[in-house]
Amino acid sequence: MDLDHPLIVLDPTSADPYGEGKRLQELGSCVPVELPQGVTAWITTDDASGREVLGHRQLAKNPEHWRAFREGRISSDWPLMALAVGQTMLNRDGLDHARLRNPVTHAFNRRPTQTYAPRIQEITEELLDELAGEPGDAVVDIKARYALPLPMRVICELLGIDDHAVRREFGRHTSTLLLSTATPEEAGRAHAAVVALLDDLIAVKEQHPSDDLTTRLLQTHLDGQLTRSELVDSLMLLVIAGHDTTVNLLTNAVKALLSHPEQLALVRDGGSSWEDVVQETLRYDPPVQRVYFRFAVCDTPLGDVVVKEGDPVIVGLATAGRDPKVFTDPETFDITRDHPTTTLAFGHGAHYCLGVALARLEVGTALPALFRRFPDLALATPDQPRLASQAMNGVQELPVRLAPGSPARALRG
Ligand code: HEM
Repeated sequence: MDLDHPLIVLDPTSADPYGEGKRLQELGSCVPVELPQGVTAWITTDDASGREVLGHRQLAKNPEHWRAFREGRISSDWPLMALAVGQTMLNRDGLDHARLRNPVTHAFNRRPTQTYAPRIQEITEELLDELAGEPGDAVVDIKARYALPLPMRVICELLGIDDHAVRREFGRHTSTLLLSTATPEEAGRAHAAVVALLDDLIAVKEQHPSDDLTTRLLQTHLDGQLTRSELVDSLMLLVIAGHDTTVNLLTNAVKALLSHPEQLALVRDGGSSWEDVVQETLRYDPPVQRVYFRFAVCDTPLGDVVVKEGDPVIVGLATAGRDPKVFTDPETFDITRDHPTTTLAFGHGAHYCLGVALARLEVGTALPALFRRFPDLALATPDQPRLASQAMNGVQELPVRLAPGSPARALRG
């Protein structure tokens, strides 16, 4: 196979990611694909190749290693540009990566994260109280009313963004940034709006420093360790990574349980745990569909192919979770299965997700609390419109019937 002659054009709307994933898997473990505007890249399709790419020393994050980018062949309004460039830890390697990652690492380690537990519990209960105010037969979008506001409030509080209206603005504009169907004008406007909101936030923290992540990052900038644009981009990364991913994990888990009542019954009976549900959702319907990009710093053999110096590689996380070599009957949502390896859903290697403990805490709190409060929760529609994103994996909305049940039917856990 040859990067100049890809057989598959990735669907920018991601209408059928698992059907597309299967077709890719049939072609091999690392195959060439075409992206918008004829840009080509390799994509991994199974667990082993995904792990290999994410941990490979010769596959870098810095887009300076991308031949087409270096040669000016990628237009500045290319729809996936924001995933490839940016002055954050996500687009850097080695010491530069450490310089950008270290100032925020501490806040997201397991122990400090545990201190947010009471607040996460409190926000969860507030959101459930609001939902409980709806009439018994109400249909609500559980994504918009529950799965999204929780991580959004948590990351905003960590960053010291106190104003509700400002939080809503952040949510609105960052979702546009992740839509692959947004026009260059829409994406440009959304990016400018987020930068303006961050400029305002930084100005407030300059005047009124407090005990939050923005103030801490601002101090690193003032100490000369971060440039001003690195500060803005790092804050943008935290806002986006800190909520858009977790929203999908919670929504996808609710959707999977409601579509598989026999699996929900296993948790209800105490035979399986909520942790089992989270783990299986991370495999079956992961929040991040694909990780963009790694760039070959020199010719690098990957399975049957050789990725040439300067080639971009995408890592398929959704296809890794459906790898028949690792998971028996991969298309089945089965919370009792053994997960033989650690999940790839949070990445692997130097760029392993910083927010794992926080995301697990949020979803581990919100998921049981939702089913405890609304034990008769049911899907209101059989199908839900999918998110048109080539990176994220989820639905645009998840309409459910709340049907508050009697406390006697409350779930364990
Ligand atoms: C279910 C929720 C989440 C999922 C599935 C997820 C997934 C991922 C993945 C796959 C990567 C690796 C990207 C790569 O290798 O190119 C990553 C990196 C990252 N994640 Fe998460 N994430 C989640 C939640 C969070 C949260 C809550 C935060 C908190 C702010 C966060 C912050 C980050 C950051 C800063 C990075 C970049 C790390 C680096 O480049 O060194 N994530 N995440």
